[in-house]
Amino acid sequence: MGRKEFTCDKIPYLPSRIPVVFPGNTPHFQKASYFAYYPNDEIKYMSIHFHKLAIKEINKETADCVTILLDVPEALQDVFRFKQGQSLTMRTTINGEEVRRTYSICSTPLENKWRVAIKKVEGGLFSCLANEQLKKGDWLEVMPPVGKFYAELDPNHKKNYLAFAAGSGITPVISIIKTTLQTEPQSSFTLVYGNRSRPSIIFFEELEALKNKYLSRFNLVNILSRERTDAPINFGRINQEKLLELSRLIDYTLMDETFICGPEEMIFLVKDFLEAKGVDKKKIHFELFTTPGQKKPEVRSQKPESETGPRSRISVKLDGRSFDFDLSFNSHTTILDAALQQGADLPFACKGGVCCTCKARLLEGEVSMDVHWGLEDEEVEQGYILTCQSHPKTEKVVVDYDIK
Ligand SMILES: Cc1cc2nc3c(=O)[nH]c(=O)nc-3n(C[C@H](O)[C@H](O)[C@H](O)COP(=O)(O)OP(=O)(O)OC[C@H]3O[C@@H](n4cnc5c(N)ncnc54)[C@H](O)[C@@H]3O)c2cc1C
Ligand code: FES
Repeated sequence: MGRKEFTCDKIPYLPSRIPVVFPGNTPHFQKASYFAYYPNDEIKYMSIHFHKLAIKEINKETADCVTILLDVPEALQDVFRFKQGQSLTMRTTINGEEVRRTYSICSTPLENKWRVAIKKVEGGLFSCLANEQLKKGDWLEVMPPVGKFYAELDPNHKKNYLAFAAGSGITPVISIIKTTLQTEPQSSFTLVYGNRSRPSIIFFEELEALKNKYLSRFNLVNILSRERTDAPINFGRINQEKLLELSRLIDYTLMDETFICGPEEMIFLVKDFLEAKGVDKKKIHFELFTTPGQKKPEVRSQKPESETGPRSRISVKLDGRSFDFDLSFNSHTTILDAALQQGADLPFACKGGVCCTCKARLLEGEVSMDVHWGLEDEEVEQGYILTCQSHPKTEKVVVDYDIK
């Protein structure tokens, strides 16, 4: 194709289909990686696989944050259609290790652009690579958008929206704000945005421009922890006292939808505060970037994994094909990991129950999930599971990755 490969990380060339033999089975043709420029591959199997996308633009937003605009070719744009607040999972190889990370899209679905913002985490593998080495023309392998961090929009809505963001938590939130204000001309949005100081505010100029564009409908409250301003309300952290102080400006109970994204402690603090004020849980949406450390998964059986104990026959459907394997009821291995050990190429990223990349529908049987932060209650009711957190509970379990 004449385009430069991303050599720093040596993304391996993988044919689009490689034969994989599962024990006791006839050979299956298991899809490996799908790269967008293989013209003869079948579009219908592309939905949850990686596509190789070039970096069209990379810009420094703050000292430790870059935005990356991805070049999504026209042929792939339908596969990459997204909702405001959704995220993309990227894969690359760093020092011989496969690294998968998820990033929220900060552009809006209305502008047909796929842009993410990546804030450098000290010692972080991918975020340091993005901030220090990636450049225009490099390639990344990217999975189509996933996530439920949004509310359905309607031009007839006349709603009050509220968001709390801190640091890189602004990324999905700015997409939600722009899309909402543009789609719903009668709705209004208030953003409470926490940062250390003015230079560390990601999207400072874009937010100022939004304030000017939507003078009467967009209300921005910056909270700076290390920079005093004239108004005391703008100084400090988003904590219990600040939320009480802000209640002089914001009537939380009048909000139709509230979005929260930032460090885990802030998310749970705001969520608990709003619930205590009587805000309906269904109106509170939150997005975690890391797996909550303080909430440990339910304690599983301490018995050693046994090959002789009761086993479940797991059937996994992907790309219209299925394969089977056995997994002990008392195994600490999740359904995702067991399938990966069998050589399957299944979608996943965080393996911590937050990114939703491994989401699948349970068609038969029962599983127990350690945690399911990324799923909405209604998705759990509909039978969706996070396979990175699931363990079989019945003799037969059928899991379908094709239903999204
Ligand atoms: C749904 C979802 C959306 C996300 N969206 C964004 C986004 O829009 N922008 C963005 O910058 N990040 C986002 N993230 C976080 C991102 O996926 C990575 O976790 C982050 O960039 C760190 O990756 P790394 O490889 O640099 O660090 P790693 O090598 O994975 O981690 C290095 C160390 O930093 C800690 N760490 C990891 N992430 C964080 C963090 N966010 N804050 C503090 N410490 C951390 C780890 O525990 C570890 O100790 C999102 C995560 C999820 C699940
Ligand atoms: S891999 Fe992220 S939720 Fe399962």
